Amino acid sequence: MLAIIGGSGLTQLANFDVIRREVVRTPYGEPSGALMFGTLGDCPVVFLARHGYGHTIPPHLVNYRANMWALKQAKVEQVVSVASVGGIRDDLGPGVLVVPDQIIDYTSGRKTTYFEGGEDPVRHIDFTQPYDATLRSRLLAAAAGAGIVVADGAVYATTQGPRLETAAEINRLQRDGADVVGMTAMPEAALARELDTAYAAINVVANFAAGRGNSAEAICFDSIEAVLHEAMQRVRAILAKLCEQ
Ligand code: HPA
Repeated sequence: MLAIIGGSGLTQLANFDVIRREVVRTPYGEPSGALMFGTLGDCPVVFLARHGYGHTIPPHLVNYRANMWALKQAKVEQVVSVASVGGIRDDLGPGVLVVPDQIIDYTSGRKTTYFEGGEDPVRHIDFTQPYDATLRSRLLAAAAGAGIVVADGAVYATTQGPRLETAAEINRLQRDGADVVGMTAMPEAALARELDTAYAAINVVANFAAGRGNSAEAICFDSIEAVLHEAMQRVRAILAKLCEQ
């Protein structure tokens, strides 16, 4: 079964028929909210709002371990993350959709693993390719099938937040090779890999990152909501197509 973790701008799926909601407890605490079981077209899907249904949980306080564990318990095999990002690369301006292919982790103090020195022997997961190649290809094919342009490949820098970055930090991320910046890909992607859950993402560029494009002087928050609202319609169309495959 497929799960969708919705981020900022996607706390609901418009074309999603909810059949039941389930409050799940895990050994790692509570997920961000109830799991919503339903159908997208004819395809069974579980939806979870990463920041809670009232959008109250900031990126550094999301219980990523509980979220991914709860989805695994629900027999989820693939997770598509939808998350907004700031665009660093010139061609990744507000409203652009991106299917990232790499991650750099700048977060700190988050619970990043299920291996905590208990009875189970440690497994060092291979994370060379942090996103599942097959699920990425399916997302790209779904976008093409829906006639929606997405950028194929980007390096996602994960910052701690919740504040946005300084212009100098963005310069540094760019020197490191980052194309977009967000706050949630890690540890989410690594935890998915530890559980052998296929994981891929669609990122929506909400704004140019600090010091770039029309964010040269400051991030303009006024336009972000409208950008996300419009872009999420395209994301929903891609997800619907994904389910038809
Ligand atoms: N930085 C970090 N995360 C983000 C941004 C940003 O500029 N925009 C949306 N999520």
